Amino acid sequence: MLDRVVTQLAREQERAVERLCDLLRIPSVSTDPNYAGDCARAAEWVAGQLRECGLGVEVHPTAGHPVVLGRYDGAGPHAPRLLLYGHYDVQPPDPVEKWTTPPFEPTIRDGRIYARGASDDKGQFMCFVEALRAWRSAGDAPPIHVTVLIEGEEESGSANLESFLVEHKAQLAADVAAISDTAMWDRDTPAITYGLRGLLYFDVQLHGPNRDLHSGVYGGTVPNPATELVLALGRLFDARHRVTIPGFYDDVAPVTKQERSRWAALNFDEQSYAQSLGLRMLRGEQGFSTLERRWARPSCDINGLYGGYMGEGAKTVIPSFAGAKVSFRLAAGQDPRKVEHDFRNWLQGQTPPGCKWRVTQLGAAHPVAVATDTPFMAAACRAVEAGFGRPPVLIREGASIPVVATFKSTLGIDTLLIGLGLNDDNLHSPDEKFEVESFHRGCRVYASLLAELADTARRSSGSA
Ligand code: BES
Ligand code: MN
Ligand code: MN
Repeated sequence: MLDRVVTQLAREQERAVERLCDLLRIPSVSTDPNYAGDCARAAEWVAGQLRECGLGVEVHPTAGHPVVLGRYDGAGPHAPRLLLYGHYDVQPPDPVEKWTTPPFEPTIRDGRIYARGASDDKGQFMCFVEALRAWRSAGDAPPIHVTVLIEGEEESGSANLESFLVEHKAQLAADVAAISDTAMWDRDTPAITYGLRGLLYFDVQLHGPNRDLHSGVYGGTVPNPATELVLALGRLFDARHRVTIPGFYDDVAPVTKQERSRWAALNFDEQSYAQSLGLRMLRGEQGFSTLERRWARPSCDINGLYGGYMGEGAKTVIPSFAGAKVSFRLAAGQDPRKVEHDFRNWLQGQTPPGCKWRVTQLGAAHPVAVATDTPFMAAACRAVEAGFGRPPVLIREGASIPVVATFKSTLGIDTLLIGLGLNDDNLHSPDEKFEVESFHRGCRVYASLLAELADTARRSSGSA
């Protein structure tokens, strides 16, 4: 049965790439209201694909961009239920002039598809869409129940998704979820990710004088919000590059012995990591390896700074306010609500004379830890091996996918994070790409995953 599906996938390879390119031509940038129409168009396009796969499909409007829901529930009363998630929205393509070919005109060079969203996440989620299509064209209904959820607000924080999940809880009931929105360990080694860091993002503004002032007339007599902001943010870190907010590290879950030895076996090369980034030295919290800092330690970054005169040449001005985008990556064990409370408190304690903070939270995601000793994880490992010819390594990632924690808290299920991207796919950067080979392998992984999950049910009922 699976053989026929795999043959069907092989036959469809070229058309599958064409379909992916059709989707990549839609500039579904979720964060910019100017692209709202394109987001709606992408949602309808995905809905059309899922209908062709034989699923029952609904496009649900939300307060933001629409959610696409597809369902196949004809697999019989004892078949497992799989929830597949992806996001059709993409990051803004800026700076557009740095792209070799335009971001929304997908171009294939050297076996790579270049376009915004190629790897994050259109190319990756189209793998399971193509697998569902192949199961249907091969004349077989999927051997398990499948719900497909494709949202359009991941890149802007999935703000409306939680209430959608709560509202459609019954429809979304499943035994396990699977997402492809992460990376392989390296070009030759597929990976399943069992841990993600959380995220907490702020716009932090400091307001001072009631208007911009001449810095000669007033300089040295008034608080300068730009200067004071930089001074305050500088106190966020100590000499060992640790975050100075009291209690910040209290809840961080320690890395287990087993993980430590698993990570050592990965032979992570700090040297070439630095080199690939054009750096002679790395930087971060002292006392931890680079992998541990990336995967299991929290971090804090200033993602942007603004205020005062930013144009050409010099302007002698004291700005009336200045601002920064400040974010925290949260390690397993940390609660974004507690960190937000502590950060706001800490800032109040740093208020410069005559100034006022204006702090807006722009997004939060809980960190994630997925159990690795489940039959579902074993099935996913077998499916990855079937698609890649090599078993996956188990890794964590430093980035965040907000929905994973929400699946756990609202639906009570774990997520299998099957990485199909590569670390050099240029996510969120110019020249984002997805390897054509990864796409075809990913399609085979998902064709197999359906069979493996059906098998999991058989195994457990056989042993019962
Ligand atoms: N697909 C990424 C997350 C990712 C990238 C995981 C690489 C593992 C490896 C996702 O689309 C993303 O960009 N997430 C955002 C979070 C969001 C709230 C904006 C992130 O991590 O910054
Ligand atoms: Mn993504
Ligand atoms: Mn992303």
